[in-house]
Amino acid sequence: MEKTLAIIKPDAVQAMHTGKIIDRIEHEGFTIVGMKKLHMTKAQAEAFYAVHKGRGFFDELVEFMSSGPVVVMALSKNGAIMAWRDLMGATDPAKAAPNTLRKLFGTNIGNNATHGSDAPETAAVEVKFFFPELA
Ligand code: RTP
Ligand code: MG
Repeated sequence: MEKTLAIIKPDAVQAMHTGKIIDRIEHEGFTIVGMKKLHMTKAQAEAFYAVHKGRGFFDELVEFMSSGPVVVMALSKNGAIMAWRDLMGATDPAKAAPNTLRKLFGTNIGNNATHGSDAPETAAVEVKFFFPELA
C-alpha cells in the first residue's frame, strides 16, 4: 500500500481544525499508520523543506512551519500520494476546489492548512524524516 506524509500546519492546529481534518482523512479511506504532534525547530523546518531553499518564499515558509505545533501523519491507501493531494486541494486556498481541506481551512497561499508529499521519491524521504521506524 502506498504511503504519503501529511502535515496539519500551525495555522490549522492553532485554529483547532485538527479533529475535523483527521475525521475527513478517516472517512476518505486513508489509514493513519503514524501520527504525532510536535513543534518543529527552524533547523528542522529548513531541513524538511530543503528542496525549496533559494525560493522567494523559503524564509517565510520556515518561519511559519516552526511557528507553532503541527500534527504529522503517515497515511496509507491505494494511490495515497495523489489521493491526499486531491483531498488537500490547490496550494492557494483561493484556487482550491470546493470542500477540499485548503478551501475549507486555508487562509492564503502561505498559510494553507496542510502539507502533502508530491511524488513517490519525496514521500519516501518525508515519511522517513518523521517516522524512520516505518521506512
Ligand atoms: P506542500 O509542499 O506544503 O504540500 O504544498 P504544495 O506542494 O502544494 O506547494 P509547494 O510548491 O511545495 O510549496 C510549499 C509551501 O510553501 C508555501 N508557499 N508559499 N508565498 C508563496 O508564493 C508560496 N508558495 C508556496 C506554501 O505553504 C506551500 O504549501
Ligand atoms: Mg510541496
